[in-house]
Amino acid sequence: MPNSSASENKRSKDSVANVLIVAVSLCLVCSLLVSTAAVRLKPIQERNKEVDRKINILNAAGLYDEARDIDELFEQVEVRVVDLSTGKFVDYIDPQSYDLVKVLKDPELSQPVAADEDIARIRRQEKYALVYLVMEGDDIENFILPVRGAGLYSTLYGFLALKADGATIQGLSFYEQGETPGLGGEIVNPKWRAKWQDKRVYDRTGVTRIEVVKGPIDSSKPEAIHQVDAIAGATLTSRGVNNLMRFWLGDSGYKAMLEQVSSREG
Ligand SMILES: Cc1cc2nc3c(=O)[nH]c(=O)nc-3n(C[C@H](O)[C@H](O)[C@H](O)COP(=O)(O)O)c2cc1C
Repeated sequence: MPNSSASENKRSKDSVANVLIVAVSLCLVCSLLVSTAAVRLKPIQERNKEVDRKINILNAAGLYDEARDIDELFEQVEVRVVDLSTGKFVDYIDPQSYDLVKVLKDPELSQPVAADEDIARIRRQEKYALVYLVMEGDDIENFILPVRGAGLYSTLYGFLALKADGATIQGLSFYEQGETPGLGGEIVNPKWRAKWQDKRVYDRTGVTRIEVVKGPIDSSKPEAIHQVDAIAGATLTSRGVNNLMRFWLGDSGYKAMLEQVSSREG
């Protein structure tokens, strides 16, 4: 008799209803745990993203120092919004709430790039761009400009830092790219990045001259000041970098702003 009651008890535990109750309860507990973790971790993730963005911006200008507090370092940086068509800074867009992903979906704030002008292959461009100015008192010491464009396999996102003259490169860094490690991925290699330093992006008449070239650069030639060695075995990614630099430094990019606010002579 006790045996038959034990087996009935076991059967009732294995019933479909019981299995469903256990499965649903487990799902509820797990989803509660996951959503609590997601809500709790969100501010930490947002903060990490913010710190990462600041490190990348400072890195482009060679100003990042891991021994110092990032927010303190960033105090020397002024974030401004520039109207790319006029080159003028605007105050009616808040740089703190600027979100490029949203801007590129908004027809009021961005527009398609005509195919014959789209050398960086970005397809859509913001009308107002976020720029970072490293200040020394009232003077602009460095311009740190967001740049992007197609590589071979991915869109390359980076920051170009220019000196106060708005024409000499302080540094170039890429913080997001999906090129092949060891080939196109070498655009993040400090050795290749160092080749950009002190190169001049415009000639004396203001024409965009910076270019990535395949093969050795003859440093005795005057054009060497505008030239950077392509990455061996990654000519196509290098060409992508060439094209994005020329796009963002040209008439569709930051040229109007740089002509107006840099300390360049003549
Ligand atoms: C698996 C694989 C991955 C490659 N990845 C890249 C890359 O990320 N960037 C690039 O420019 N070329 C890459 N290439 C090489 C290109 O196909 C092309 O050969 C190269 O850009 C030409 O550069 P070179 O003239 O300096 O040899 C890759 C080739 C292979 C087979």
